[in-house]
Amino acid sequence: MVTADLMEKLVSLAKRRGYVFQSSEIYGGTGSVWDYGSLGVELKRNVKELWWSSMVHQREDVEGVDASILMHPRVWEASGHVESFTDPLVECTNCHRRFRVDLPKVRDGQCPVCGTKEAFTEPRLFNLMFKTFMGPVEDSSATVYLRPETAQGIFVNFLNIQGTTRQKVPFGIAQIGKAFRNEITPGNFIFRTREFEQAEMQFFVKPGDDEHVFEEWKDLRMQWHLGLGIRPEKLRFHEHGADELAHYCKKAFDIEYEFPFGWKEFEGIHNRTDYDLARHQEYSGKRLEYIDPASNERYIPYVVETSMGVDRTLLVLLADAYREEEVDGEKRVLLALKPKLAPLKAAVFPLVKKDGMPEIAMKMMGDLRSSGIPSFYDQSGAIGRRYRRQDEIGTPWCITVDGQSTEDGTVTVRDRDSLEQERVGGDQVVNWITDRLS
Ligand code: GAP
Repeated sequence: MVTADLMEKLVSLAKRRGYVFQSSEIYGGTGSVWDYGSLGVELKRNVKELWWSSMVHQREDVEGVDASILMHPRVWEASGHVESFTDPLVECTNCHRRFRVDLPKVRDGQCPVCGTKEAFTEPRLFNLMFKTFMGPVEDSSATVYLRPETAQGIFVNFLNIQGTTRQKVPFGIAQIGKAFRNEITPGNFIFRTREFEQAEMQFFVKPGDDEHVFEEWKDLRMQWHLGLGIRPEKLRFHEHGADELAHYCKKAFDIEYEFPFGWKEFEGIHNRTDYDLARHQEYSGKRLEYIDPASNERYIPYVVETSMGVDRTLLVLLADAYREEEVDGEKRVLLALKPKLAPLKAAVFPLVKKDGMPEIAMKMMGDLRSSGIPSFYDQSGAIGRRYRRQDEIGTPWCITVDGQSTEDGTVTVRDRDSLEQERVGGDQVVNWITDRLS
C-alpha cells in the first residue's frame, strides 16, 4: 500500500464509520481540532483505561490526580512556559501568512503558500500558549492560560498528594487530561492539533536515583505499547540532541512510530531534574521539599516524566491496525485492533429475518449488553456484507444465529483475523468473549 494513500484511507474510514469527525464540520471545519464519534470515543476510552489501570491501579507507588486546566498565571512563569514555550516564526511580506522557520520550503527561502521567494521577515518568537481572561475584566491582570501540558497540575499538587496518600519517595502521580497549544502548523489529521489529550506520569525520586529510574520507565513504556499489539518494527526510541531538549529537560527519549508521513514521536520520557519543583518553590515562596521520614533528610525530588499523547496513540493504533486483504476474490478492509482495544467486541446477526432467529439474536444482545460487552445488532443485508462492515471497524467477533441455533442453541463465532468459525453454545458466548478480552 502506498503510504501517503494510507492517511487518506484512514481519514476517510474514520469519518465514514464514526471514529473521527472534523470539529464544527457544518461550518466548514476548523482543521486543527477534531471530534471523536461513537467508535472513536470507545477506542479512546479503552486506551485511557488501559493506561490508568497499568499506571495507577496495578502499581502501589503511583497515585492519580485530576487538576484543572486553568491555573494561576504565575505557574506558567515558574514553569518557564511564558518565556521559553515559543517557536520562531517568519511572515511572508507578500501573502502575510506566518510559518515556522524549520519548514523545509521556508528554510529554502520560499513561501509555502504563495511561492514568493526571499520575502520573509526576520524570525520572531511566538508563544504557543492560548491566553484568555478570568472574570469579567479583560486586562493583563486577568490573563490566564489554557495549560499546554498537564504536568504542572501535578507539580503544584506534589505535597498535597504526598501528604494525603502518605507515599514515600520514590513514587509517582498520574493524570489524563486536555492540553492546548496554539500550534503554527497543525496537521496530519489527529497527529498535531491545537487541543489534545495527554496521559502523563511524574515519578519523584531522590536526586542521584533519576538516571536508573529513567531507564526503567523508558523500558516499561515501550513494553506497554508493544502490549497494545503495535508492530515492533514500527516502534523505536529517539534520543533528543542538545538542540532538541525542552527547557526543563536534562535527558529525553521519544518513543516514535513510523507513520505514513515518517518516524514521529507519540510519547516522551523526560528527566526533568528538580527544575519544576525548585522553580515553583522559588515563585510561590512555599517550601516544596520532601522530608525523608527515615533519615530526616530534606531535598527537592528529581522527576522522571512519561508523557503520552492520547490522540497520537490513537493514530498509531489506527495506522498500525489497518489492513487490506483479498478473500475469495473480494477485497476486504480490516482494523486488526486487539480485542481489548476494539470499540465493539461483538456483532450479532440472525442469518435470516425469520424462523425465530431474530428472537434468539436479540436475547443474546441482551445478555451481552447486561454483561457490559459493547456489541452491535445487525439483521439487514447479505451476511458477507455484514461481516465486512464489522471487519472495517475492527469488531473481533461476529456471532451468527442460524438454522442450527434454533435446534440446539449453538451459534457460530467468526474470528475477524483468521476468519475461522467456531460453534459455541448460545449461553456460553458471554463467557467465551470475556475469557478472550484480557
Ligand atoms: N509534559 C511534557 C510534554 O508535554 P511534549 O513532548 O511536549 O512533552 C508530550 O508532549 C506528548 O504530547 C507528545 O509526545 C505528543 O504525543 C503529545 N502532543 C504534544 N503536542 C501535541 C499536539 N499539538 N497535538 C497532539 N498531540 C500533541
